[in-house]
Amino acid sequence: DLLSPKDSPLRGLNILITAGPTREAIDPVRYLSNHSSGKMGYALAAQAQRLGANVTLVSGPTQLAAPEGVNLVAVESAQEMLDAVEAHVADAAIFIACAAVADYRLAAVATDKIKKNADTMQLELVKNPDILATIANRPQPPMCVGFAAETQDVAHYAADKLKRKKLALIAANDVSDSSIGFNSDENAMTLFWHNAKGELEQKALDRAPKLTIAEAILRQAGELYGERNH
Ligand code: CTP
Ligand code: CA
Repeated sequence: DLLSPKDSPLRGLNILITAGPTREAIDPVRYLSNHSSGKMGYALAAQAQRLGANVTLVSGPTQLAAPEGVNLVAVESAQEMLDAVEAHVADAAIFIACAAVADYRLAAVATDKIKKNADTMQLELVKNPDILATIANRPQPPMCVGFAAETQDVAHYAADKLKRKKLALIAANDVSDSSIGFNSDENAMTLFWHNAKGELEQKALDRAPKLTIAEAILRQAGELYGERNH
């Protein structure tokens, strides 16, 4: 039972979403990245747009077309993604960080292609900015929704990220199950949030198409947004 746009708690809201992987350049022809397909973030964008929100989707490189009616901002690196998010966040009611941001980038990007001279080589990496935490720590932050991809102790790490990153809602998935997640059209997740009494609540979303999962996440986000802004 999909929400109908006329009952949508998201109608007229500006929603900013990150999606896809980031690419961190090593030299002019190589980069570090990950297996994110962007499908979950694009599904969120498509559903939020269907539910009447004004959607801006800041996306790393993917094979996907922008959903109809969504404002797509294409980026490559984590730093570019942060810059694009900061340029669009001022009027956002809700920020959903779905991108698989590279945690590290090269300490220095080689200006010329690296030649294979030595038998071993080392890359020095430095930590990337945490886009979600940066936005959640703004003076007037939008309501922030995060994801947690874990291979173990999913509930423990998700609840920790919810608190530490000051999120309203987190969607956690167990990426050790390679039949779902990353490049799949389906996903299974558990949502965690705090109720009005400050108690941790959770809701399991059983394996389903990413569009269905996206709508369940947006429904919960809409409910929390309504509670905060009544
Ligand atoms: N995130 C982000 N910017 C980063 C890293 C993560 O915005 N540089 C966001 C992701 O989009 C996701 C959430 O933070 O919504 C959690 O990402 P995840 O990789 O699970 O957690 P990290 O905080 O990076 O910690 P770790 O990888 O060590 O588990
Ligand atoms: Ca990470």
